[in-house]
Amino acid sequence: MTGAVRPGTVYLVGAGPGDPKLITVRGLEVLRASDVVVYDRLAHPTLVREAPHAAELIYAGKRPGHHTLRQDQINALLIDRARAGSTVVRLKGGDPFVFGRGGEECEALRSAGVRFEVVPGVTAAIAVPAYAGIPVTHRRHGSAFAVVTGQVGGNRPALDWSALARMPVLVVLMGLRTLPETCRCLIAHGRDVRTPAAVVSVGTTPRQITITGTLGTIAQRVGAAALPAPTVLIVGDVARLGQTLRWFAPERRIPGDSPSPSAIPIPPAPRSHALLDARSVVPARTRLPVPAPAACRGRWSEEV
Ligand SMILES: C[S@@+](CC[C@H](N)C(=O)[O-])C[C@H]1O[C@@H](n2cnc3c(N)ncnc32)[C@H](O)[C@@H]1O
Repeated sequence: MTGAVRPGTVYLVGAGPGDPKLITVRGLEVLRASDVVVYDRLAHPTLVREAPHAAELIYAGKRPGHHTLRQDQINALLIDRARAGSTVVRLKGGDPFVFGRGGEECEALRSAGVRFEVVPGVTAAIAVPAYAGIPVTHRRHGSAFAVVTGQVGGNRPALDWSALARMPVLVVLMGLRTLPETCRCLIAHGRDVRTPAAVVSVGTTPRQITITGTLGTIAQRVGAAALPAPTVLIVGDVARLGQTLRWFAPERRIPGDSPSPSAIPIPPAPRSHALLDARSVVPARTRLPVPAPAACRGRWSEEV
C-alpha cells in the first residue's frame, strides 16, 4: 500500500481518459493534498478543482503546434517546486506511462534527486473502447492487442507494420490525422480490407461518438463526420462488438458496415441515444487505394 502524502515529492497522477470519476482513490488523495498541480490538456477540469483552494494551478497543455511549456520547462518546474518543499501533482490524461512522457519526467526527477511516486491511471487505450462497448480482448475475437501511436517519424522508432497487420486487435492513439495512412499501411501489409474497425471520439464523456466500419471504409466515414480529436481507433473483430455491447447512455453512434451483420443481433438504441442515420451522414462504401509499403515510413503530422 502506498503511504502518506509527503511534501517535497512529485506525484505523477493518471487522471483517466475523460470521465473524472475514473481517477484512482490514490490519485484523488494526493490531488486533495497538493500544493501545486501541473496539469495537461486532457485532464478534466473537475479534477483540477479537487486541489485545495490555495494550491498553485499550472497549465502545461500541449496541442498540435502549440506547447504552453516545453518538456524541459515542465521538468524544471516540477524539480523547482518539489525542492521548495511543495507536494506537487503532475496530472496527466489517462495513464502517465502510456504515451504520456511520464518516463522522461521520472528520469529528470531521478537525476535531480527529487522523490517521486507514480499513480497509474485508467488509460484511454482500454477505457475509451470499453465505453463504446468494445473489449480489447475477447476469447473468441482476439487474444492479444497492441497499442501504438499514430504519430511516427521524428525520433520515434518506425512501426513494424507487417507485425501490426497480424495483431488480432490494434489500438491506435493520436491517430486521427493519420487514419487514412494507418488503414492503407495495414492493408498494404496484408490485413483484410473487411476487418472491422471503430473510431471513438472524446470517449467517456457526454460528447462521445463512435463510428464503425471496416479497414476499407472507416477513414472515409470518419472524414465525412468531421470527428473531433481526441480519438481512439480500434481494428479487429472486437470492433464490431460495440454494436451489441454498447452501454454508455450519452453516446451518439454512427453505425457502419459490418462484415457479418447477422452474427450478432443489434438491439434498438435506447431513446436517449441521438442515433444518427448512417445513410444521411455516411457516403457510399469506398475502398482506399493500396499504396506501396514504402509510404508507411514517412513522417506524419502531430496530433494529440
Ligand atoms: C498523448 S496521448 C496520452 C494517452 C494517455 N496517457 C492515456 O493513457 O490515455 C493522447 C491520446 O490518447 C487518446 N485519448 C485520450 N483521451 C481520449 C478520449 N477521451 N477519447 C478518445 N481518445 C482519447 C487519443 O488518441 C489522444 O490523441
